[in-house]
Order: sequence, then structure tokens, then C-alpha cells
Amino acid sequence: MIKPDAVANGHIGGILDQIIKAGFSIKAMKLTSLSAEKAGEFYAVHKERPFYGDLVKFMSGGPIVAAILEKDNAVEEFRKLIGATDPKKADEGTIRNRFAESIEANAVHGSDSDENAAIEGSFFFSAFERV
Ligand code: CMP
Repeated sequence: MIKPDAVANGHIGGILDQIIKAGFSIKAMKLTSLSAEKAGEFYAVHKERPFYGDLVKFMSGGPIVAAILEKDNAVEEFRKLIGATDPKKADEGTIRNRFAESIEANAVHGSDSDENAAIEGSFFFSAFERV
């Protein structure tokens, strides 16, 4: 997912360019937005964390781009490409190093396991919306 900060700052093209150059194929993609309820559902795993309320507000505050990406070992490869959650700790040249503003407004989200990638893909896309 490309988060509201990166969409608002005009980074959709730059981020997709870096993703495609890193060898990922796009299997589904849409520009959309999350209601507070849907953002809360998406991040339900973080419900007990102190940042949950702010995160839900931020994620429902503007358009996002959702995508399903494919590559060998995609989850790990994508996490390497985006860098650490906190952009101050993200390696030089990673997407968060280049495009993120803060730990909350951190430009992109990547699934943390194959299982969650399947769940999160189905959260945004029906079978008809995937190639
Ligand atoms: P993401 O990979 O989308 O998963 C959960 C998000 O919570 C994370 O990226 C951050 O944007 C956000 N977040 C906000 N504050 C924190 C924090 N203190 N620690 C970890 N994640 C945070």
C-alpha cells in the first residue's frame, strides 16, 4: 500500500517506478481510500498499541494506492526494498528513506508474511480485480 502521505506528496510514480525496477510484477492495483472503520479493520492486529488511534486517523485521512505484487520471495524482498518502519533507520536508497516523513507517515506498507499478504490482498481486491 502507498500511504496517504506519499500519495499527497506526489510520490505514487516514483514509488511504483522503484518497485517495478526492483523486479516486482503488479497483479492488482487501485487508488482508493479507507474509512476509519476499514483502516481500523486493516490494522486490527495493532489495536492494543498506543499509536493505533492516530494510525487509523492518518490512514483514513486521504487516498491510498493498494496493490498486489508478485516476485520470488516477495514478502522479504519487498521489506528489504522499503526499509525500516522508522524512515530515520531506513537504509539509504530504500523507499522509506527516499519518500517517508515519519514513523507514522512512512510512505508504504508491506505485508509481513505470506499468510498476511493473502489476507491483505483479499481485503482490497476480489478475484475479478486480479490478473
Ligand atoms: P506499517 O508497516 O504500515 O505497520 C503498522 C504501522 O504503524 C507502521 O507501518 C507505522 O506507520 C505505524 N506506526 C506508528 N507509530 C508507530 C510506532 N511507534 N511503532 C511502530 N509502528 C508505528
